[in-house]
Amino acid sequence: MAPLRLKMIFAIFIFLQILDFTLPRKKNKIRNVRWWNLAYSISLRDNMLNEVAPIYINPSLQPLTRKQRRVVTRNPGTIVAVAKGARVAIHECQFQFRNRRWNCPTTEDGRGGSIFGDIFKAAGTRETAFIYAVTAAGVTHSVARACSEGSIFTCSCGRRRRIDVTSSLPTSAASIPPAATWEWGGCSDNIEFGQRFSREFVDLVEKGRDLRYMMNLHNNQAGRIHVVSEQHQECKCHGMSGSCTVKTCWMRLAPFRQTGARLKDRFDGAPRVYQGNSGNSRNRNRLQKFNLLPVNPNHKSPGPQDLVYFEESPTFCDENRTLGLQGTTGRQCNVSSIGVDGCDLMCCGRGWVEETYLSKERCNCTFHWCGQVTCHICNRTRVRHLCL
Ligand SMILES: *[C@@H]1O[C@H](CO)[C@@H](O)[C@H](O)[C@H]1NC(C)=O
Ligand SMILES: *[C@@H]1O[C@H](CO)[C@@H](O)[C@H](O)[C@H]1NC(C)=O
Ligand SMILES: *[C@@H]1O[C@H](CO)[C@@H](O)[C@H](O)[C@H]1NC(C)=O
Ligand SMILES: *[C@@H]1O[C@H](CO)[C@@H](O)[C@H](O)[C@H]1NC(C)=O
Repeated sequence: MAPLRLKMIFAIFIFLQILDFTLPRKKNKIRNVRWWNLAYSISLRDNMLNEVAPIYINPSLQPLTRKQRRVVTRNPGTIVAVAKGARVAIHECQFQFRNRRWNCPTTEDGRGGSIFGDIFKAAGTRETAFIYAVTAAGVTHSVARACSEGSIFTCSCGRRRRIDVTSSLPTSAASIPPAATWEWGGCSDNIEFGQRFSREFVDLVEKGRDLRYMMNLHNNQAGRIHVVSEQHQECKCHGMSGSCTVKTCWMRLAPFRQTGARLKDRFDGAPRVYQGNSGNSRNRNRLQKFNLLPVNPNHKSPGPQDLVYFEESPTFCDENRTLGLQGTTGRQCNVSSIGVDGCDLMCCGRGWVEETYLSKERCNCTFHWCGQVTCHICNRTRVRHLCL
């Protein structure tokens, strides 16, 4: 009975492969990256781990190119990790840019294109650079973690684990048999796999040989580098009554917030680049072969960790329907700040209004002996400033 079921699944699989080849495919006019749409189109509760066929049937896989589908099908479980990674990346982008004129808006429907809207019609801006980097990083992070959680079939715990047995054993350790003092390292996040998968899956979308192609691949790689460099060692003590006779350690990725903050720094310091003569073809590193040079000769050449762009951004002040921009009208600003979140800059000199509003807040909180806290809900009048 089981072989029959397998055969059927296989038959459906082949059939869908053929269908996939023969169906006419629409050409994307603008080079929208659509796998990002998985963030909203996939229910993360779906358990698709054991099934091959449903991955192909699932209409929510539409955002993927044919080659990307092949990659996720070869690695059952990755599709959910990719969707999670995209969500985390979007959330992080919106957190890092919450006080900026461009605050990383997304549209859930994607309107046939990308969930980040039409901003990619202006393709080579800093904002694009950040989106590419943070989403490539999100996939790396999420897949690496999913491996160690056991939810991807083709990977498990990372191999790079360190064991660190404390040398000075407490005296009571003498009574413990030697076998019990050894425990091989815990389960590391599989960063190698996450990186490899992200490179394969994310970079697949990029085609051509133009500056935009190079910029996107460079920024994807920069995103991954910032995930890899943010890992740390975690350890756990074992032993009788908490004595640290044996310590197991493993490598753990930092919370994604840390990666997001690093990328935001690189966004602020990103150099504008152009393509220099691609002379050094002996260089085996594809990214270095691009030879991206800073437009400003006083800047140094971008390193692998830097974000790069080649097109100046719009001001983001005014509505522009072509680019899907809303402008800053109605945005809240900070009247006492002279930074980008301040009313002068945020409102682009148009001015602002002061508004009082009623805010429900927790107040009169009382602490009980067992750690419980009970609060009242108070009405407070608060003031906010909104851009005209
Ligand atoms: C919107 O942006 C495009 C591309 O930058 C520009 O050509 C166009 O003039 C802008 N439209 C408005 C109404 O500002
Ligand atoms: C507004 O800006 C001031 C000065 O930079 C800062 O101290 C304050 O925390 C900001 N307020 C909010 C709500 O962000
Ligand atoms: C909070 O407590 C104070 C006295 O402690 C009381 O006067 C006030 O009404 C309380 N507020 C609410 C919303 O319960
Ligand atoms: C807060 O305001 C709501 C109406 O917005 C009212 O129903 C409620 O009683 C108020 N609560 C207090 C503690 O004043």
